[in-house]
Amino acid sequence: MIEISVKKRYGERTVLDVEKLILEEGRVYAVMGSNGSGKSTLARILAGVTKGEGGIIYSAAKPKTGCMPQKSFAFDMSVTANMLLGHAFVGRFAYKTKALTLLDDFGLTRMRRKNAKKLSGGETEKLALARLMMEDYALLVLDEPTAAMDVNATETAEKLLKRYFDRLKPTVVIVTHSPAQAGRIADEIIFLDEGKIAEKGPSEKLLSDPESEKLKRFLSVNR
Ligand SMILES: Nc1ncnc2c1ncn2[C@@H]1O[C@H](COP(=O)(O)OP(=O)(O)O)[C@@H](O)[C@H]1O
Ligand SMILES: [Mg+2]
Repeated sequence: MIEISVKKRYGERTVLDVEKLILEEGRVYAVMGSNGSGKSTLARILAGVTKGEGGIIYSAAKPKTGCMPQKSFAFDMSVTANMLLGHAFVGRFAYKTKALTLLDDFGLTRMRRKNAKKLSGGETEKLALARLMMEDYALLVLDEPTAAMDVNATETAEKLLKRYFDRLKPTVVIVTHSPAQAGRIADEIIFLDEGKIAEKGPSEKLLSDPESEKLKRFLSVNR
C-alpha cells in the first residue's frame, strides 16, 4: 500500500492538495482532470522527481519505480542504443535480444539504427514505453504515454502495457485525457480538480455514474 499526503505550492498558488490518497499494490489507477489540475505534479511527486510538503508512506519497501514523463525524451544515439542504455556490459546479449523483441512489438524494428532524436512524437513515446519495459518495475508512473500516438499505435501500446501489467502486477498510475482509455486499462479513476481529488473509485462506476458535477462536465466534453 502506498499512502500519499502531499501539497505542492508554486509561490502563492497551491497546485496540488492531496489529503490522503491510498494506492493498493498491483492496481491500475488512471488520473484524469482538466489542463492544470495537477496531474503531472502528482505524477512527478510519485515518481520522486519533485518533492512537495508532506510525503509518501510505503507499507513495504520503497518500490522500484519506472516513470515516463509527459514530454517523453530520447537520447542522442540510435534507437537500439537507447534501449540498451544502462546495460552496457552486464548481460548484454540477453538484453539485446529483449530490446530487439520489444522494438518489434512496438513496430520500431525499421527504425532501430536511426538516431532516436529524429523520431516523431508518437515514435518517441513508443520508444519510451519499450525502454521502460526492459526493466521489471513494482511502481509505474506514466504521464500521458500515448498522447502523440495514432489510434492503431495506442491500441498496440495498451495491449503491450496490459501484458506487462499481467506479467509483473505493478502498481500503475497513468495520466490520461481519454475516459475511454481509462475504462480500457484502469481499475480505478482518480479525478483531479484544481489540485484536489474530486472523485475516486472504480472506473466503470465513475465513467457511467459520476457523482460530482465537475466530473460529469469533464465526461460530457471528453469522449
Ligand atoms: N515549475 C512550475 N512553476 C510554476 N508553476 C508550475 C510549475 N509546474 C507546474 N506549474 C503549474 O501547476 C499547475 C498544475 O500543473 P500540472 O501538474 O502540470 O497540470 P496537468 O498535468 O494536470 O495539466 C499548472 O497551473 C501549472 O502551470
Ligand atoms: Mg500534465
